[in-house]
Amino acid sequence: MIDIHQHLIYGVDDGSPDLESSLQMAQVAASEGVTRIVCTPHASDPFPYNAPLVEERFAELRERLEGVVELSLGCDFHLSADNIMEACAHPLRYSIDGKGYLLVEFPSFVIPPAMAEALFRLQSAGYRLIVTHPERYPAVLRQPELIGEWMRAGCLIQVTAGSLYGRFGKVEEMLANELLERNWIHFLATDAHHPLRRPPHLQQAYKYVAKRAGEETARRLCVTNPQAAVEGAAWPEQPEPKGLWENEPLRFSRTPEMKRARRGSVPKGDSPGPAGEEAETERVPARGFWSRLFGR
Ligand SMILES: [Fe+2]
Repeated sequence: MIDIHQHLIYGVDDGSPDLESSLQMAQVAASEGVTRIVCTPHASDPFPYNAPLVEERFAELRERLEGVVELSLGCDFHLSADNIMEACAHPLRYSIDGKGYLLVEFPSFVIPPAMAEALFRLQSAGYRLIVTHPERYPAVLRQPELIGEWMRAGCLIQVTAGSLYGRFGKVEEMLANELLERNWIHFLATDAHHPLRRPPHLQQAYKYVAKRAGEETARRLCVTNPQAAVEGAAWPEQPEPKGLWENEPLRFSRTPEMKRARRGSVPKGDSPGPAGEEAETERVPARGFWSRLFGR
């Protein structure tokens, strides 16, 4: 398996706090059958991307983990106006090993309609966009049709492994499972931040998917699609995403949880995870997005 989203590089964001934790995380992943980890430090307002430090620690970890697990370097790229301009100015810099596949995280609470234009700009700069864990954004829980819009715009979808079996809450579990049923998931990844509090478990999700959707699907989400992403290869053919082009509303849209969320109460999924975990998404104000992005 290949884990394309893990905060393995220590001391650069809210991920691994130290070298020992990083080595431990890598060992756990390897023991579960992960052969390559894509290190994805945040590039966000609270955690700006410090390229020299990231590269230094990435090289150190690669050396220390030789023979245990292979490493690639990517980024958990937050879609702020400044980041989008920076990524367009330096094509492919933040993508996985510079080969084109880029993990993007939307503002968690408010997703401005102008974001569609931003996605198009990044795609035009050569990036293949992978939307990270949409099932965990409060904004998506209120407006799940956004996922279909992003997919129709050419984005790929990465769901957090633990969401499938309820680690991030019931609402997220429901949505993740419906995405699985519909073939709307392209990658499973751990988004691990810590060996204990946010551990790098991928095997449980693999088994879960193999049981619910078949071994072939589990391999596609944990092995072959991630392989294409780390190689920067052409995107492999996928099974038909059910209801996508027909714009068929998600069953999730009719649930009481969803209706409550639409009425304005923040859904349970607002929490980034089980108690004690750090928030990994920042509140990005909607106001001013366009003016910051395009200077008007
Ligand atoms: Fe992340």
